Amino acid sequence: MNLTLYVWRQKGPNDKGQLVQYEANGISTDMSFLEMLDVVNEGLIKRDEEPIAFDSDCREGICGACGQVVNGIPHGPRKKTTVCQLHMRHFKDGDTIYIEPFRARAFPVIKDLIVDRVAFDRIIQAGGYISVHTGGAPDGNTVLIPKRDADNAMDAAECIGCGACVAACPNGSAMLFTGAKVAHLAMLPQGKIEAAQRVCVMTEEMLAQGFGNCGNHYECQAVCPKGIKVQFIAKLNREFIKAQGSNG
Ligand code: SF4
Ligand code: FES
Repeated sequence: MNLTLYVWRQKGPNDKGQLVQYEANGISTDMSFLEMLDVVNEGLIKRDEEPIAFDSDCREGICGACGQVVNGIPHGPRKKTTVCQLHMRHFKDGDTIYIEPFRARAFPVIKDLIVDRVAFDRIIQAGGYISVHTGGAPDGNTVLIPKRDADNAMDAAECIGCGACVAACPNGSAMLFTGAKVAHLAMLPQGKIEAAQRVCVMTEEMLAQGFGNCGNHYECQAVCPKGIKVQFIAKLNREFIKAQGSNG
């Protein structure tokens, strides 16, 4: 396939940035989107031009490092698919593709398609952990957990921290991410002990990092590559109200 790309190029955080046109020729339908960009970058390097900077690590949809806005949609047009798992067979020969970084106040652009998502790390550092001693796997297996709670906790734990939910939200809200992180611990006995304190400090940190509030647009759920549901935002709100009550 031969494609025309318009890629956001920005030298650094203070550069204005602009869309630059590139031709991506000889692209196989079996390539992933990032492999297509690798091909474009090889061409740029051969021509002594600066390659396009973008993030990736696992390239198998589990680490959350990759993330680009493809034709206006974070992670591109395929449902429940990270951009590293998006394959070129979903595009047609002759297509024009627009590629931009995630855009949100709390995710400043570092370079080209790479944004700084350290704000997510700060939310996790604030309270996204448990400090009780849980023993080994056999100890864990002796704790009886209702199947529904275990299933819901696993659904929430699927969040890979990619940030697409923030990029899709008109308010730049991180409530889907924070809700998933609060919920997966709050639903299990080991996480319940610190639940009240956790939801308060993680919510405070989320607001301090410049994320907006949820406006019920549901765009986060629509783009989430792991299918995290807005029910976890409701869970975050419920946990927060409960914690306010328990703190007097
Ligand atoms: S909730 Fe979904 S979109 Fe948001 S960070 Fe987690 S995996 Fe990514
Ligand atoms: S590179 Fe790890 S999820 Fe895409």
